[in-house]
Amino acid sequence: MVKVEYAKTGKKINRLGFGAWQLGNTEFWGYMSIEDGVEMVKHAIASGITFFDTAPGYASGMSESIIGMATKDQREQVVINTKFGHTADGETDFSVFSLRKQVTDSLERLQTDYLDSIVLHNPGFDILEGKTLHIQELKKLKEEGLIKAYGVSIDTYEEMETVLEHIDVDIIEILFNIFFQDVSKLFSRAKKKGISIITKVPLDSGWLTGKYDEFSEFDGIRMRWDDDTIKRRADLVAKLKKITHAEDLTKYAIAFILSYPQVTAVIPGMRHMDQLDDHIKHAQFVLDPQMKKKMIELYESDIKDHPLPW
Ligand SMILES: NC(=O)c1ccc[n+]([C@@H]2O[C@H](COP(=O)([O-])OP(=O)(O)OC[C@H]3O[C@@H](n4cnc5c(N)ncnc54)[C@H](OP(=O)(O)O)[C@@H]3O)[C@@H](O)[C@H]2O)c1
Repeated sequence: MVKVEYAKTGKKINRLGFGAWQLGNTEFWGYMSIEDGVEMVKHAIASGITFFDTAPGYASGMSESIIGMATKDQREQVVINTKFGHTADGETDFSVFSLRKQVTDSLERLQTDYLDSIVLHNPGFDILEGKTLHIQELKKLKEEGLIKAYGVSIDTYEEMETVLEHIDVDIIEILFNIFFQDVSKLFSRAKKKGISIITKVPLDSGWLTGKYDEFSEFDGIRMRWDDDTIKRRADLVAKLKKITHAEDLTKYAIAFILSYPQVTAVIPGMRHMDQLDDHIKHAQFVLDPQMKKKMIELYESDIKDHPLPW
């Protein structure tokens, strides 16, 4: 796996990372035991995956706790990115004065004395426009060594452009995949500023594996799609399969993202060991440039002017 420097922290990571929203997250993603979660994280590290994306709000703190249990004896080998703003108690709290407390709560669950990075978890435009004291407080925490880097986790072109114009960050975690391509136009600008780009939801919450169709039924966090949205996604997946000539789209979807040299890491969310092994197996897969061109054309013709809901 290709290694790159992470957010000027001096640590290197593999570009294939680990999205940890699913860890122990029965409510949103289906049952996963703590033991299975710990085993998955340990197996990922043993296989060379060193970057973990978590948040206090994932499984009410359990995602962070599982990562803590699995990494406490090999802390220097891993890079942990967590978030601020949605607490383990299920509260939304973006107040500046709670930043230190939220960081120390995460440190406790993660069984560590520093965070490699923390990102503001979908903050409002007042924060993105630099109208608040969050960045000053984050700088202070960085000087104290509690965090090594900081940034934002955001979803849209407008949000990313606002961040690039107004605030000083080390990391942007952004929603980016074959169905959500708009933000790629901002990648070079971010790179020029030395910002590490982490791409979340790389498989469109599972659709870009190719395993769902218009008859698929969803529970948990994926109950958000109505019938029209499911049908539209199913039709797009069918078109993608014509481009790849493959039923399993997973490796193509990940390789599409990694074909952008400005992207630091991609963080698929994984629910089972076999999904993890599948990503590890295809980590070196490189997308054919002609296929990439067709995927961009599909986005331009079918999605760009009529964006999909998340
Ligand atoms: N606001 C934020 O900051 C934010 C929001 C969303 C996500 N994230 C981060 O980004 C990560 C990734 O996003 P996501 O988990 O929402 O969506 P995703 O990575 O696009 O999709 C995850 C789903 O894809 C399927 N999958 C993954 N690997 C597979 C494989 N090898 N073979 C077959 N199926 C596979 C699984 O579906 P099944 O469950 O159907 O098996 C899994 O639940 C999260 O874990 C989280 O760390 C951050």
